[in-house]
Amino acid sequence: MIRLTVNGTVWTIDPPPDMPLLWVVRETLGLTGTKCGCGMALCGACTVHVEGQPTRSCVTPVGSVADKAIVTIEGLAGTGSVVSAGGLHVVQQAWIAEEVPQCGYCQSGQLMAAAALLAANPSPTDADIDAALSGHICRCGTYQRIRAAVHRAAALARGVAR
Ligand code: FES
Ligand code: FES
Repeated sequence: MIRLTVNGTVWTIDPPPDMPLLWVVRETLGLTGTKCGCGMALCGACTVHVEGQPTRSCVTPVGSVADKAIVTIEGLAGTGSVVSAGGLHVVQQAWIAEEVPQCGYCQSGQLMAAAALLAANPSPTDADIDAALSGHICRCGTYQRIRAAVHRAAALARGVAR
C-alpha cells in the first residue's frame, strides 16, 4: 500500500509502485485537470508539484512520491506560497485576465510551472520566465500571453495590479 497526499487529502492506494503518478492522479483519483501529452517528459502537460517542485508526473513512479506533498491544478488555489484572492491563485487570475488559453490542453502544466516559478522568484524577468517554461510546449502558440500573464501574476502577488 502507498500513502499519497494530494491537494491535502491523504489516500491509501495499492498501485504498482512503478505506475506513473499521472495515471494514478487521473485514473485512480479522478483528477483529470492534469493532462497527458507526450508521456516522455518532453512537453510539460503533466506537471504537478511534489514538495513544491514542478514535476513531470508522466515519468514519476508513484512509489517515489509516497508521503510527499503533491499538488495538482485542482488544488493550486489552496496553496499559500503566492497571494491568492477571489478563490483563485494569482496565476489563475492572471491567465483569465490575459485570456491565455486557446485549446487549453497544455495550460494546467503551464500554470503549475508558473506558480512554482513565482514561489521561488517573485519578480521574474522575461529570461527567467522563458527559462522556467521553456520545456512546456504549447501547440497553439500562447507563449507571448503566458509571459504577460506571469508578469501580471507577479504584480498581483505584490499587490500592484488588478
Ligand atoms: S506528458 Fe509528461 S511531459 Fe509530456
Ligand atoms: S493552449 Fe492549446 S496547446 Fe497550449
